[in-house]
Amino acid sequence: MAIERVGVVGFGAMGSGIAQVCAQAGYAVRVREVDQTAIDRGWKGVDGSLARIVKAGKMTEADAKAARGRMSAGTSLGDLGDCDLIIEAVLEVADVKRKVFEELDAICPPATIFCSNTSSLPIVDMAIRTKRPDRFAGLHFFNPAPVMQLVEVVHALTTSDETVETLRAFVAKLGKTPVVSKDVAGFIVNRLLVPYMLDAIRALEQGIASADDIDTAVKLGLRHPMGPFELLDYTGLDISLHVGEVFFEEFKEPRMAPPPLLRRMVAAGHLGRKTGKGFYEYDEKGQRRP
Ligand code: 3HC
Repeated sequence: MAIERVGVVGFGAMGSGIAQVCAQAGYAVRVREVDQTAIDRGWKGVDGSLARIVKAGKMTEADAKAARGRMSAGTSLGDLGDCDLIIEAVLEVADVKRKVFEELDAICPPATIFCSNTSSLPIVDMAIRTKRPDRFAGLHFFNPAPVMQLVEVVHALTTSDETVETLRAFVAKLGKTPVVSKDVAGFIVNRLLVPYMLDAIRALEQGIASADDIDTAVKLGLRHPMGPFELLDYTGLDISLHVGEVFFEEFKEPRMAPPPLLRRMVAAGHLGRKTGKGFYEYDEKGQRRP
């Protein structure tokens, strides 16, 4: 099926990145957020990211302007009624996501494909709430979406092969690489990443090394672009806690259980870059303090 118009629900860090990537690939993109403050924050993210890409010489000013012009944002889900594909990137709360899809199901024609960008929740639970479980899949982008090359296409038990093929082609058109995963908590990447990050926190709790030395070890010893604590601060400790909780619920394996330090840091509001403090401290510009 031909995809021309893309709807994105949620204009946060992931939603704004996903919407931008789709607009850069030439799609008309409609975004829905809950209020004007969240919309303004989303535009700030898009403008900042496009400016970086132009500054790096990877896109002309005119192309960036054209991409932005292909995007529009508002507060009504009804505006997404004529989209061929909808990607949901709202809070990682099952009931919030299910409600969004139930509303969209009544608004969109049967042919519209629905996708969730969830990193941990079962796709099938959302799919069966709609009248299109065969045209429902996971489409999992990575942060920062304009930079990261991978997108996981999640084939739930109810998803048709045709939907998966349409999404693979769509991801390729975005200039990214699709991989197909079954609908199991964490899919491919988070299934490997989350226990590793939680293990890094346990290593810190056990006093094996400082956060800085663990990060340095991973960057220089494994050539990762970020160490686990830099990445935890970058993606948000609340996100990792939530994902760990979902994983433990699904697998009941101790290595999937969020360590006490993570739970306490989230309780203290030390969520990482977004609050200025996580495993490291950050200034107003998001630069790490020495
Ligand atoms: N938009 C556009 N361009 C961006 C950008 C953004 N938001 N963020 C970074 N860039 C560009 C920079 O402009 C720069 O471009 P250049 O090489 O042409 O100059 C390039 O990316 C590198 O950025 P920086 O020089 O500022 O800094 P780094 O080299 O440290 O790269 C990074 C930043 C790309 C974030 C890199 O550190 C990285 O890849 N980190 C790992 C990220 C990662 O693992 N993400 C996955 C998280 S897990 C996830 O998302 C799953 C979820 O379910 C939790």
